[in-house]
Amino acid sequence: LSGVLTELVVDNLREIPDFPEPGVLFRDITPLLANGKAFANLIDGLAAHYRGHIDAVAGLESRGFVLAAPLAVHLGLGMITVRKGGKLPGPVLGEDYSLEYGTARMEIRPDTVVAGQRVLVIDDVLATGGTAAASISLLERAGAQVVAVCMLLELAGLGGRERLPGRRIDSVVTFP
Ligand code: PRP
Ligand code: MG
Repeated sequence: LSGVLTELVVDNLREIPDFPEPGVLFRDITPLLANGKAFANLIDGLAAHYRGHIDAVAGLESRGFVLAAPLAVHLGLGMITVRKGGKLPGPVLGEDYSLEYGTARMEIRPDTVVAGQRVLVIDDVLATGGTAAASISLLERAGAQVVAVCMLLELAGLGGRERLPGRRIDSVVTFP
């Protein structure tokens, strides 16, 4: 991904200490989304990078939806919604995954995936990688070919990349 995009995201992030818990530095993308020019430039840059290489964009609920929808429209492609458990009417495929404390679940409707299509997975943050790993597994169970994973922010210290071995992961900004 182009360094111009990295700069764009870095310039429009807000860092909030001790959120949602003491000791955690929360990196907030809402200033980027609220800046019309920056948001448009981000989507333009991502579209230029992936144009011709993908057939659909999969967004991971919730913050991934905000990126996936405009990117899909920009490229003239459909969007696949990978949702949190219990939101989609059936039939659904689901994957449970572990969090630091407890578990979470992602689901898709397999009829939103065309067999063999090249899918880009996009989300705002790669942390432990659990959300992305579960989502990729669902998309592949439904017949998609996940060709790349795009993350605005990668928190490398949390080991997400190790949970996605062999995947092409394009992170716009990587923090240690
Ligand atoms: C956050 C973030 C990613 C995920 C990354 O989503 O938006 O989707 O966590 O964490 P992981 O790599 O450890 O799985 P969250 O579930 O907090 O909610 P939201 O997107 O609905 O705001
Ligand atoms: Mg999320």
